[in-house]
Amino acid sequence: MTEGEGATEERPRLKEYEGEGITVTFEPRRCLHAAECVRGLPEVFDTARRPWVLPDAADPDRVAEVVRRCPSGALQYHHRPEDAVAEQPDSPTTVRRTPAGQLVVRGDLLVTGAHGDRHETRAMLCGCGASGNQPYCDHSGPCAEPDDDDVPEER
Ligand code: SF4
Ligand code: FES
Repeated sequence: MTEGEGATEERPRLKEYEGEGITVTFEPRRCLHAAECVRGLPEVFDTARRPWVLPDAADPDRVAEVVRRCPSGALQYHHRPEDAVAEQPDSPTTVRRTPAGQLVVRGDLLVTGAHGDRHETRAMLCGCGASGNQPYCDHSGPCAEPDDDDVPEER
């Protein structure tokens, strides 16, 4: 950002995996390794492969269904470039606190943070204050899991 631009908002760092029928985006800093993706569709999501997401390796509706299971919101999708948000938010909005203190939120969300106001459908928010990616949890606090093995780093 050049001097004088003033805005403090940064754009979230996203990786985009474009397919014929669906495009999947991945925000590595928000991935909390729940592994719903690799369990749900291993032919599409494979952390041992590069690229680790192959959106055309399954039916687009099935890919969308598994992306919607990602609790952190690290994975998102759209069917066409002009779709800002393709996913219908859950209704009613739900908020759940995990035993480790994270807030798991699903619904029609407007999340305010370093990236400005973001329309979201899924997020895991930091409940302990330690995250370096506020307001999202980043496993910096007591929520950190010792055995984060299936970790999709940025690929
Ligand atoms: S992208 Fe990360 S947080 Fe989302 S389901 Fe996959 S492993 Fe879990
Ligand atoms: S709850 Fe995970 S970093 Fe705060």
